[in-house]
Amino acid sequence: VAAGFSPAAVRDRWWRRAAHLALLRGRSVRRRLRYVYYRILGVRFTGYANLGRIEIPRCHGQIEISGTASLDNGVVLLVTAAPSDPVRLVIRGGVYVNRGTMFDSSDRIEVGEGTMIGPYCYITDHDHGTEADADIRTQPLVAQPVRIGTRAWIGAGAVILKGVEIGDGAVVGAGSVVTRCVGPGEKWAGVPAQRLGIR
Ligand SMILES: CC(C)(COP(=O)(O)OP(=O)(O)OC[C@H]1O[C@@H](n2cnc3c(N)ncnc32)[C@H](O)[C@@H]1OP(=O)(O)O)[C@@H](O)C(=O)NCCC(=O)NCCS
Repeated sequence: VAAGFSPAAVRDRWWRRAAHLALLRGRSVRRRLRYVYYRILGVRFTGYANLGRIEIPRCHGQIEISGTASLDNGVVLLVTAAPSDPVRLVIRGGVYVNRGTMFDSSDRIEVGEGTMIGPYCYITDHDHGTEADADIRTQPLVAQPVRIGTRAWIGAGAVILKGVEIGDGAVVGAGSVVTRCVGPGEKWAGVPAQRLGIR
């Protein structure tokens, strides 16, 4: 019998294939259950989003995720809002968010269709108040909306701060801190991020 075709080798291959398929099936069932769970919790889905082991500390209907968005393990969607507030975090269709990225919204953060966000990014639309005569902890948040356009790419570990708009098709380099608006198709990187050029 040729090498790799002995009964034991064939049996071994089939077992490994069966175990692999069972794992895949288990993962997809868990993803579907998560989708149902977050829907019940109040996340507004339009279409079927592919959800890894994400974390949504609280939701009263202020998170909207459109069809075919994909959020990987460890993504955190944090919204500070009262139950009667409008939608504060919008993730549109075809968006992919890599592992460990956190959205921290108290006004509005929107991510446009087909945008890719790398691992371990932090995207926020607010600062704490920093007036000198009061404890920072007790001061109201200072918020301005953040908008990331369509088909953009945010590199690993980038931080995007309040009031920033990132244009359609723009690129933000790994580890950047974005404090100013980025035009469509532009490439920015660094701390604070500076314009490198255009794609
Ligand atoms: C932003 C990026 C796409 C730029 O690529 P590029 O157009 O090929 O740019 P270059 O490598 O020619 O660099 C141009 C300049 O920007 C600097 N630069 C590039 N990326 C940078 C970054 N992330 N932070 C700071 N400076 C950066 C380079 O040092 C170079 O500076 P110099 O002209 O003084 O030498 C790339 O560097 C990057 O950060 N990719 C992200 C990778 C990633 O996060 N992958 C995860 C996958 S989801």
